[in-house]
Amino acid sequence: MNKPNDLAISATDLNDIDSNASHDNHFNSILNARLSRRNWLRGSAVTAATAVMGSMGLSACGGGSDAIAVTPTPTPTPEKLLAFTAVPKSLADVVSVPAGYTATALYALGDSLRAATPAYKNDGSDTDFDNRAGDHHDGMEYYGLSAAGAPLASGAERGLLAMNHEATTDETLSSHFLHVNGGTTSLPRPAAEVDKEVAVHGLSVVEVKKTGSAWATVNDSAFNRRVTPLTDIELAGPVRGNALVVTKYSPTGTKTRGTINNCGTGKSPWGSYLSGEENWAGYFTRSSTDNAARGDKSVVSLNRYGRSQGAGSRHGWETGGSDDKYARWNLSKIGASSNGSDDYRNELNGMGYIVEMDPYDKTRAIRKRTALGRYAHESAAFSVPAVGQQLAVYMGDDSRNEYIYKFVTTAVWAAADANPADRMATGDKYLDSGKLYVAKLAADGTGQWIELAMSNALIQAYSAYKFADLADVLVNARLAADAVGATKMDRPEWCSVNPANGEIYYTLTNNSNRTVNPSGSSQLAPDSANPRAYTDMKGSSAQNGNPNGHIIRFKEGTGAAAATSFTWDVYLFGAESGADASKINLSNLTAEQDFSSPDGLAFSPYTGICWIQTDDGAYTDVTNCMMLAAIPGKVGDGAKSTLNYATAAGGNLAVDTFIGKKPTADTLKRFLVGPVGSEITGISETPDGKTMFINIQHPGENTKLANIGDPSKYTSQWPANAGYGAGKRPRSATIVITKNDGGRIGS
Ligand code: FEO
Ligand code: CA
Ligand code: CA
Ligand code: CA
Repeated sequence: MNKPNDLAISATDLNDIDSNASHDNHFNSILNARLSRRNWLRGSAVTAATAVMGSMGLSACGGGSDAIAVTPTPTPTPEKLLAFTAVPKSLADVVSVPAGYTATALYALGDSLRAATPAYKNDGSDTDFDNRAGDHHDGMEYYGLSAAGAPLASGAERGLLAMNHEATTDETLSSHFLHVNGGTTSLPRPAAEVDKEVAVHGLSVVEVKKTGSAWATVNDSAFNRRVTPLTDIELAGPVRGNALVVTKYSPTGTKTRGTINNCGTGKSPWGSYLSGEENWAGYFTRSSTDNAARGDKSVVSLNRYGRSQGAGSRHGWETGGSDDKYARWNLSKIGASSNGSDDYRNELNGMGYIVEMDPYDKTRAIRKRTALGRYAHESAAFSVPAVGQQLAVYMGDDSRNEYIYKFVTTAVWAAADANPADRMATGDKYLDSGKLYVAKLAADGTGQWIELAMSNALIQAYSAYKFADLADVLVNARLAADAVGATKMDRPEWCSVNPANGEIYYTLTNNSNRTVNPSGSSQLAPDSANPRAYTDMKGSSAQNGNPNGHIIRFKEGTGAAAATSFTWDVYLFGAESGADASKINLSNLTAEQDFSSPDGLAFSPYTGICWIQTDDGAYTDVTNCMMLAAIPGKVGDGAKSTLNYATAAGGNLAVDTFIGKKPTADTLKRFLVGPVGSEITGISETPDGKTMFINIQHPGENTKLANIGDPSKYTSQWPANAGYGAGKRPRSATIVITKNDGGRIGS
């Protein structure tokens, strides 16, 4: 979902909820103690493609005045990564890619997944979203098929795209682009509107196929599938069957109704799809007298996860009618039972997990992998599998001042599991048993993984919440991480493992709560791993804290995936290229590289390129969100640096940090800029590296509900303005990117 920047907090900026008011950040104590102190093949085909793309609202940038018309040479050019010409920053309502590349919309909100569902009219009258693409396309993974349509990991011309549909564009309650007149903005909400809004959330699987050089979705493919917040999903792992997840829907605590606000993704080494449930809490309401009705520690948990009593829900879906499918959005303790089997007081405990799906088999139950902990999940990135060794799954919790986690499997990797007969059973083997750790980073560039388990004395002794068992620790992972003094970070978004050396990269998108002179429990001083606190102007508005975000990376110590210590540095600091290089633009970004609010990040397993995507609101006065291509070095390739801040008390706050080797024009380059109001997300490629699929999420998201029906007032008309689909309402969509000479993406 959009969180343009956590500086502009609105009812819809649910990512920005700051629920971490714990005071036990040992790392800050450490710091406080320091107080006082290219231009190549440009053939005629490219020129023609540029002309066509221009007429479709897609633009090819970087052609430059030096473009010449020559006949393409039949001799293959040796591949050089990042040889393309950087795409300039842009405010245009188009998808801009480098010269020599083509980007085409492929699968947009509302597209039909079966023959019986009519084409999308895109005027607010459409229904049957259980059989259409959902909204706010987010994380996405590609799964190959053979020419005959059988699962084949190496299949590069036919495959499945599995993706998350995170949220909807909304201003007040209603998802306004989905309704003829923008929908209702007061309670109760009509059932028909609620049903539509619920159904556009969840996941989709859609078959895609290349014919000639053109990719298209396969309508009516037997693989096509929608998963929604009403789909039956199994709970797996230590929380399954626990009293904390007993609901009217599942009195045995073994399943949940659906998945929601699915954000980042992951692909397991055994070929399944992993989806992170992120800002699920905001969809639920709690009565203003629920604390007294409960009178137990569940109040602490609900407060910590962003649902204090009296919290209203994002869409008011609980008011859709008397049916249980509406009642489940109300977390209030209203039943007479002692265990919650007659209401939804425990419903929130069934949300917030990494969800595993077999994208190839829609008959298999989806499973929430509770051993990986419950928080605002983004992506799930695996360590490089090594036969006979445990696997790690790296994850983050995207809310201000939240934590970085990893899960280490009990099982050791077996080569045969790379191509298993049963993907979900293989998921059971690796993801239902293991240890969950949280990261604690020190000012000297080292860090520790602290296990979250009942065996940890700090967890046993935690005064704010009395943990009952491992399931309680996992359901309340944030509280457990508070208990052990984990390091509060600047909103961890996606993470990915560099296949070349196993190092782990985390985007830290931004944090308005970093300040040199913190007050209250939610503000934090800059520390070594989150070292910037500054002001950036957006027009006349001051954006304070770490408005542009950074990318941190870890190198595991002894034990590799199972290590309990690591070293770290900051790979890149987001910044405007013109910002002060001694305090803000610490990575010396140029105009061809500057970015703000990194979010999506994934290494290509095929080219090794590190793709970086933004979900920004800080630099959007100058440029729409973007995707960059990078060839990073490694932890420790840069230098230690000290940032000095003048404190209000007249002292100096010296913050040591570790800045990775600064990028060059050959190692970091802007590859794409999206349409107005969109964030760029989802990174997936065919195994030959020649086709990339990414998602354009919420173009035109700032369109006012009052303007629905007047296309001239939509802040974006993409992808209709690129020749895709009916109507003029902007639509989230998957795009396909290919290189006109047939080369790999990023070369
Ligand atoms: Fe859904 Fe944290 O982005
Ligand atoms: Ca600015
Ligand atoms: Ca994200
Ligand atoms: Ca984001």
